[in-house]
Amino acid sequence: MLKVTHPQWTTRFAFILAAAGSAVGLGNIWKFPYITGEYGGGAFVLVYLACIALIGVPVMMAEILLGRQGRQSPIRTMRSLAQAQGASSGWQVIGWMGVVAGFLILSFYSVIAGWAFAYIPEALSGNLNGLDKATAGALFGNLTASPWTLLFWHTLFMLLTALVVLRGVQAGLERLVRILMPALVGLLILLVGYAMASGRFLQGLDYLFSVNVQAVFYTCQAGTCTFTAEPLLVALGHAFFTLSLGMGAIMVYGAYMPPQASIASSALLVAAADTVIALLAGMAIFPLVFANDLAPGAGPGLVFVTLPIAFGSMPAGQWFGSLFFILLLIAAWSSAISLVEPAVAWLTERWQWCRIRATLSVTGLVWLLGIGSVLSFNHWSGPEYQWFGKTLFDLKDYLASNILLPLGGLLIALFTAWAAQRRFSEQGLALTRGFALWWWLIRYLAPLGIVLIFLHAIGLV
Ligand code: TRP
Repeated sequence: MLKVTHPQWTTRFAFILAAAGSAVGLGNIWKFPYITGEYGGGAFVLVYLACIALIGVPVMMAEILLGRQGRQSPIRTMRSLAQAQGASSGWQVIGWMGVVAGFLILSFYSVIAGWAFAYIPEALSGNLNGLDKATAGALFGNLTASPWTLLFWHTLFMLLTALVVLRGVQAGLERLVRILMPALVGLLILLVGYAMASGRFLQGLDYLFSVNVQAVFYTCQAGTCTFTAEPLLVALGHAFFTLSLGMGAIMVYGAYMPPQASIASSALLVAAADTVIALLAGMAIFPLVFANDLAPGAGPGLVFVTLPIAFGSMPAGQWFGSLFFILLLIAAWSSAISLVEPAVAWLTERWQWCRIRATLSVTGLVWLLGIGSVLSFNHWSGPEYQWFGKTLFDLKDYLASNILLPLGGLLIALFTAWAAQRRFSEQGLALTRGFALWWWLIRYLAPLGIVLIFLHAIGLV
């Protein structure tokens, strides 16, 4: 069989940029604030941070390690590593699940990225100037009510994604992310500054950081309150989502990583950058939510209603607004690439498809699936198109983020710490200190934590 050799990142820094580009995306700026709002604030944030530190970072190290030792697409990496370790070739299921999760996620991710896209011309043309609560809501409502508009932007975003993946992940991506990251952070800090002046900054901080277990973990009806574990599962799922873990994206990027680079410090840096950006987004958004008398639990539209109001009333908001949505679009773009790369890498290896054919097939299928997400906001938003009270859009997110990604992470942890030899990790990570801690986290805490949260959420413990 022909062996396909994949490219390599030029430096460790390039790997970090690419991984951070994958991690930082709509998950940080769109999803984190809206689910924090839906699940009631501080206690949710705390659980999320614990999931990042105790489960996310160790699993990210394992995922990079597997990728770098396997050097192929996740499916084939897992198969050859399993063989080398004398384990069942069934472990390649990690790669397969990842491909499915990637399809599901991108098919709604692209539609949201399309919202950011659609807001760029709105901001540029001055349509956000002077927006208030009602007009901002109407603007967003009109956008999501129109399937053709959504389809248009979704199509454009998928084309953009295909364009970069076609040319290979290296060309272009590295340069893009190098400029994007600092600009995004700068703009977020500016927005936090604006939020400070909104008069409700402390209320926003309080909402984000003060831990109210009752509000998050108990649902109360007619005076009786029952504990609910769903926020736990959602926090865990989001930790995986925001770090791009559990589906092979980081694994395939790890496969292109130079052999000498430190895995541990790369993973820590990526996770830290990702977390800081999510918290900045929260600190920018919640004060504005309260200052404008909006509901924190408004759902997926939260950011797209809140921020336009802010841009509409700040000096030069037309420009800051345009810049913000452009940056958000680029952040989504550099994430989307990593969602298709595992499938594309596999098609080129296994079937020797050329990159063009592989990319167009994968993105074409995602585009098709995305039509379901487009319709979830209009024609298919009614109860007759809902399952378990969720629209197709919600369902795809729930299935991928809360089930497939944690399950993928669980299997990655189990393979690394139970199926493979300890020596495999010792040599691959080459840590001078901290190995024992990581080993304990990946061998016991991460798998146990994931299993417990799962069982709890489905009502078994
Ligand atoms: N992490 C990205 C975000 O926060 C989304 C993403 C990109 C992703 N690649 C992924 C999520 C792989 C899960 C798996 O927006």
